[in-house]
Amino acid sequence: MDFRLTEDQKMVQSMAREFATKELEPKAAEIDASGEFPHESVKKMAELGLLGMVVPEKYGGAGFDFVSLAVAIEEISRACGSTGVITAVHNSLASWPIDNWGSDEMKDKYLPRMATGELLGAFGLTEPNCGSDPGSMEAKAVLDGDHYVMNGAKRFITNGGAANLFVVFAVTDPEAGHRGITAFVLEKGFPGFSVGKHEDLLGLRATSNCELIFEDCKVPKENVLGEVGAGFKVAMGTLDVSRIDIGAQAVGIAQAALDKSLAYSQERKQFGRSICEFEMIQEKLALMATGIEAARLLVYNAASQKDAGKKRFSKESAMCKLFAAATAVEVTKEAVQIFGGYGYTKDYPVERYFRDAKCMEIYEGTSEIQKIVIARSLLG
Ligand code: CAA
Repeated sequence: MDFRLTEDQKMVQSMAREFATKELEPKAAEIDASGEFPHESVKKMAELGLLGMVVPEKYGGAGFDFVSLAVAIEEISRACGSTGVITAVHNSLASWPIDNWGSDEMKDKYLPRMATGELLGAFGLTEPNCGSDPGSMEAKAVLDGDHYVMNGAKRFITNGGAANLFVVFAVTDPEAGHRGITAFVLEKGFPGFSVGKHEDLLGLRATSNCELIFEDCKVPKENVLGEVGAGFKVAMGTLDVSRIDIGAQAVGIAQAALDKSLAYSQERKQFGRSICEFEMIQEKLALMATGIEAARLLVYNAASQKDAGKKRFSKESAMCKLFAAATAVEVTKEAVQIFGGYGYTKDYPVERYFRDAKCMEIYEGTSEIQKIVIARSLLG
């Protein structure tokens, strides 16, 4: 297998890196502290085409492949973990399922506005009582003439308070188990829809992570995404794609931690020499770099499977998320250790990387869930 980036993918990489370094990195600590959603930066990303990366050109998007998206998410996350997941959710959890399962009318209506950033997307699967087991969701939607009436709530929704378009899931046939779940596209202005509690998170603090509330929310029938009763598969198929971007996000955060550790370990002197001259520090740097390189290859591998048109790449996607998340947690922990007391303060960004990295092992399916997906795939 050859994972050298093409000229186009390298172009995306350098464009995203330049933007992220100039625009996102200087603001990352500030938005982490305030928890403020980076509206201005998101607007600038839209102007650069970063919000329509996998939207086909005929709908005004860039029509890039999924390796390009992963490369861009890595670069954005290297500068700012919050902005990394904001971008990933919009592209792969919201725009992509609409492109993949939406009717022509739905695509015409939403995709061009998603590509320009006029509409920002979010994904509502998790509920107060259902996280790892989305088949047990409680939100319900009942058909009433030309619309559905939706009741329930979604929790921990990235972009929740900032988005204006939501891919959400609700039970339409309570007797049918996971085959009774349907996917819908909701606009923020639909009657009966509101945004609830804003979460005060440990990391990824600027992601407007909120609760979504549906109180007799009226959703037009034509806003069903895919087939009625096929929502569980829409959710799982979407997560197969978006977990690749969480892998990329983890690689970006880990790379930032390594970059900073390399610089600091050469500047910091103890016992009369730079700490990078000590073999115990060198061992850390070597293992950090090796883990990142391996994780990046798993991300490229999973994205390449998607780009090659492979129908199911659940295993590759789960492997890259599982490994990259563990790598990010380990690498950022070691970065804090290399920085010592300074690493435990907000004077340096490594404590933020450490807090941000932990979420990679939790959202879009915990690491335990990724192991289940991989094992089931191995066992057929
Ligand atoms: N693609 C297509 N279909 C799939 C699929 C996939 N990847 N995975 C399962 N299916 C299908 C199965 O074939 C099966 O189909 P049939 O009805 O034809 O039999 C059906 O779905 C049910 O499959 P399972 O029996 O395997 O389902 P399960 O209940 O045992 O669950 C699971 C499997 C992997 C544990 C799944 O529940 C899971 O991934 N859980 C984690 C949920 C998750 O990731 N949540 C993240 C929330 S989003 C988020 O975090 C966003 C954010 O903030 C950034």
